[in-house]
Amino acid sequence: MTNRAEHWNQIFASKTDKELGWYEGDVRQTLAFLDRIPSEKSRTVFLPGAGTSLLVDELLARDTRLVLNDISREALARLKERIGARGIEIEWLHQDISQPLPVGVTQADIWIDRAVLHFLLTEPEIDGYFGNVRAVVKPRGYVLLAEFSETGAPRCAGLDVHRYTVDEMRVRLGQEFSLVWAENYTFVNPAGDPRPYVYALFQRT
Ligand SMILES: C[S@@+](CC[C@H](N)C(=O)[O-])C[C@H]1O[C@@H](n2cnc3c(N)ncnc32)[C@H](O)[C@@H]1O
Repeated sequence: MTNRAEHWNQIFASKTDKELGWYEGDVRQTLAFLDRIPSEKSRTVFLPGAGTSLLVDELLARDTRLVLNDISREALARLKERIGARGIEIEWLHQDISQPLPVGVTQADIWIDRAVLHFLLTEPEIDGYFGNVRAVVKPRGYVLLAEFSETGAPRCAGLDVHRYTVDEMRVRLGQEFSLVWAENYTFVNPAGDPRPYVYALFQRT
């Protein structure tokens, strides 16, 4: 695909999950946000940069239909190997999320992004991302964004990041989305370093 895809492929090819700087053995912070969403049967969740996150296993345990996207084939292959047998309700996508998704992409009830959006640095890329949010999320659907906060690190995975406030997320999503809940959360990475995030859940009208 692109240099960006190669960058991520190299990281996933050279490290175990637990060596990844963003590895979360415990995904309760995200699950607590999802528990704020009234439960519905057979909801569909879209992950724009799934990586090899254990959130996927938790969502499968909750009988969620999944659309799992990532720019890295390595990440998708590793995730598929881990959960493939349980994958009857999974749709796999290999797209740069800053570029338009295929026409007819599956509509989702919830979009969950942990540490993907903040790697997009230019206005066209960020606009492309939010265009995809609007193309995927159903009316009354939800968007959970968990990105490095204003006090967060300036770089991750060898790349510069764009740090977020809840206000910037709200403005970029536009008036169709209203804030449900937001929190600052300090993730401690596997090396023991604190990584301040901002988590914000929005609902579409
Ligand atoms: C820091 S990791 C986070 C992975 C996962 N969300 C988690 O919480 O463990 C960033 C992920 O986003 C993917 N990614 C980076 N840029 C992307 C892009 N433009 N489009 C799609 N995926 C991207 C990477 O391959 C990687 O899996």
